[in-house]
Amino acid sequence: MPTALVTGITGQDGSYLTELLLSKGYVVHGLIRRSSTFNTQRIDHLYLDPHDPRARLFLHYADLTDGSRLATLLSQIRPDEIYNLAAQSHVRVSFDEPEYTGDTTGLGTIRLLEAIRQSVPEAKFYQASSSEMFGAANPPQNESTEFYPRSPYGVAKVYSYWITKNYREAYGLFTTNGILFNHESPRRGETFVTRKITRAVARIAKGQQKELFLGNLDARRDWGYAPEYVVGMWKILQVDKPDDYVIGTGTDFSVKDFVRLAFEHVDLDWEKFVRFDEKYLRPTEVDSLVADASKAEGELGWKASVGPEQLAAIMVEHDIATINGFVPDKPVGTVWAEAVS
Ligand code: NAP
Ligand code: GDD
Repeated sequence: MPTALVTGITGQDGSYLTELLLSKGYVVHGLIRRSSTFNTQRIDHLYLDPHDPRARLFLHYADLTDGSRLATLLSQIRPDEIYNLAAQSHVRVSFDEPEYTGDTTGLGTIRLLEAIRQSVPEAKFYQASSSEMFGAANPPQNESTEFYPRSPYGVAKVYSYWITKNYREAYGLFTTNGILFNHESPRRGETFVTRKITRAVARIAKGQQKELFLGNLDARRDWGYAPEYVVGMWKILQVDKPDDYVIGTGTDFSVKDFVRLAFEHVDLDWEKFVRFDEKYLRPTEVDSLVADASKAEGELGWKASVGPEQLAAIMVEHDIATINGFVPDKPVGTVWAEAVS
């Protein structure tokens, strides 16, 4: 059985990727941060007690700011594939905590790459690069577009992108970048704009909330569906020669468009509920991100099938179902549980 190591396993993408890898027969090792409260809700449905002979998911305490711990774990686990998804991933927060964001989202990658170089140079490495690196560059953006990051987060991701490429060229390591555009799901963190909107729409529809405060409604994004994007991550590590790929839908919607779609799904007029609060503005904004993912389609056979309209519907339905006490969001996990029982 192939062995994968996933950093950021407790996040949105980590949970979907783990479901995918388990369904493909991998043994998965995930790094989690020690917290005073439980932070494994997104992967609890996949976890079996390690004493259970069927267990194929193992969790280890680690932090990307602790290089010696990463080195120890890599030399013990000796994974075939490493997916670096851990990051301080919130762009607005990166303006409040720029130094910490640089340490985790930037330097964290070099700590991991050094541990790979020393202990498991044969392992394949995936770096979670981001369309945020394109920043002010004109859309559509592809692998040849010059980076122009507009946030401490974007700058840290550019560092990680280049150090990943440098370790490929300098040491011949199998290191890759997936440059993923925004992808969302019912598991999306609650302070990212799509989930903030769909949760509010569900609560407003149920009479539990009166208003929704947002910042810039004019920014344009290419929103896709996260479960499809983790397939792209896996495919990037299955090619013969390591390379960098843009992953996105190619669609172009504004925040206002997404708001309208989400409210229309429950037959409400968004303008009656949405208010402006300047605290959600960023010192520098990324105005427009639209993917040209033709290289991924041609070389990986990867293409998005869910666009923003369907995505808004999936997320609003989920958030309404959650209020109603029913959570239907475990399709792949269910397959995995059935496969081992
Ligand atoms: P997410 O939900 O915010 O998850 C981030 C993960 O990183 C969590 O598991 C978090 O752990 C972990 N983490 C944060 N700081 C850490 C540290 N110092 N040491 C170890 N782990 C740490 O992010 P996501 O949406 O799944 O995105 C996954 C990756 O793709 C991130 O690197 C993100 O920057 C990148 N990306 C995301 C998108 C997108 O649209 N979602 C697009 C492009 C790139 P806790 O649970 O303990 O906080
Ligand atoms: N979060 C948030 N909250 N964003 C708002 C709000 C609000 O109340 N109001 C307007 N926005 C706007 C932001 O200014 C931004 O232009 C857009 O909505 C999207 O914001 P986010 O959902 O926070 O995502 P992001 O595009 O900044 O960053 C996400 O995508 C990147 C890939 O392009 C994150 O997932 C990053 O980790 C990822 O790399």
